[in-house]
Amino acid sequence: MAVKFYKSENQVPLEMHKVRMVQKLNLLPVDERLRAMQEAGNNTFLLNNRDVYMDMLTDSGVNAMSDLQFAAMMRADDAYAGTETFTRVKAAIKEVFGCDNVLPAHQGRACENILAEAYCAPGKVALMNFHFTTTKAHATRCGATVEELVDPAGLIPQSDNPFKGNYNLENLRNRIDEIGSENVAYVRVEAGTNLIGGQPVSLENMLAVTDICHEKGVRSVLDASLLQDNIYFMKTREARCKYMELKEIYHLLADHFDIIYFSARKLSFAKGGIICSKDPKFTREMQVYIPLYEGFLTYGGIDVRTMEAMAQGLYESLDMEYISQGPLFIDYLAKELDAYGVPVILPPGGLGCHLNAGAFVPDLPHNQYPAAAVGCALYIISGVRGMERGTVSEQREPDGTERYAELELQRLAVPRRVFTLSQIKYVADRVKWLWDNRNLIGGLEWTEEPDVLRFFFGRMKEIGYWQEELVAKFKQDFGDSL
Ligand code: F0G
Repeated sequence: MAVKFYKSENQVPLEMHKVRMVQKLNLLPVDERLRAMQEAGNNTFLLNNRDVYMDMLTDSGVNAMSDLQFAAMMRADDAYAGTETFTRVKAAIKEVFGCDNVLPAHQGRACENILAEAYCAPGKVALMNFHFTTTKAHATRCGATVEELVDPAGLIPQSDNPFKGNYNLENLRNRIDEIGSENVAYVRVEAGTNLIGGQPVSLENMLAVTDICHEKGVRSVLDASLLQDNIYFMKTREARCKYMELKEIYHLLADHFDIIYFSARKLSFAKGGIICSKDPKFTREMQVYIPLYEGFLTYGGIDVRTMEAMAQGLYESLDMEYISQGPLFIDYLAKELDAYGVPVILPPGGLGCHLNAGAFVPDLPHNQYPAAAVGCALYIISGVRGMERGTVSEQREPDGTERYAELELQRLAVPRRVFTLSQIKYVADRVKWLWDNRNLIGGLEWTEEPDVLRFFFGRMKEIGYWQEELVAKFKQDFGDSL
């Protein structure tokens, strides 16, 4: 919750938790950061974490756990079948979502694999407000095609639209009619829409989507991985949610969606993944794939201690003081940068602060990968690692031509309950310096380009020597400072 300050430069997000365990961080000298970036093939995924000062690659699996989560882990019940731990996971899912039917899987993309195996096939179309990398890869691997129906207003980098993840409902209705209900694998709503900047979907829009699905007889699926941030925005931006209990919102969604799944690396501050439903029909259709790909139905490839942490974390996702921490820090960082003129996605969403690389380096062509270039530059000058969410994260078209991303973003994820405000201020400071020196940022080209999910393991090199010039300017301005 935002606590008002008496005398402060502007509103400060106050932590409602304290740190009781610490991890030492390294901030390498700038020359070593340059070397580390180049050795990593200019791909932030390939950096070693020991070379990273602030790991803002993702909010996934790197959230700080609470004392109660650690305590819960101690009572884990090790059993292949029928572990008491799974009973506690089911009780937590029942409390949060009101669902009785629960399938465990080792993480979010494993749930997507199960969904794809069960419902995607050649000739089927999976409709989404927006794709997520692994979601799309699984659906297409099973032969389906993926179509996105986010309202185009959501793709405008800066606006005052509070729910940029919303579906365009008219297009959804029309596309289902054109495709034919029987050919729709499922209609998927991604809460806190990842690739467009962690942008939320309104409760009204979600319910309207499920109404259309019921009317047309197609399955509705909620990707709830980023639902906790999304619910924070429903509470603070949507009038009808203002006085609703968080639990009421979670339950209402579960009443309307056929299937809910999530990555517990995000929702619940833990690890693992869950598929759940009020209707046993759907879990029955999918359950056969769990022992095949994941593990027995009562652990699904998740370690029992992790399942205990997940169960406790689910209860914590009902606590506004916990779920507001990420969005408030992101809001702080985004507004700090915006005030300086740095192009960021506005309004700020969940997950992280997103730099609009397309506007950061407008003269750098798409085929020199502006979002990746901004990310490399930022690491070199700060030790902060973000993640490219632009053209590199797309897949080439089947004919080999490049598919340019709708938005070229460099994402600075804010893992929940991890960073302090002084660290966030450091990020803001270094991004401002980079903005003032943006003319030094140059392009990248591939040296190794894998066919699938190239952003994970592809390697690139700088075009020319702009990175060395950036380091020289850094030294000129910062002297001996790290
Ligand atoms: N759905 C959404 C909306 C996600 O953001 C992610 C992961 C997944 C599904 C897959 O879950 O990682 O547990 O397999 N997003 C991470 C990220 C990887 O960094 O944005 P997972």
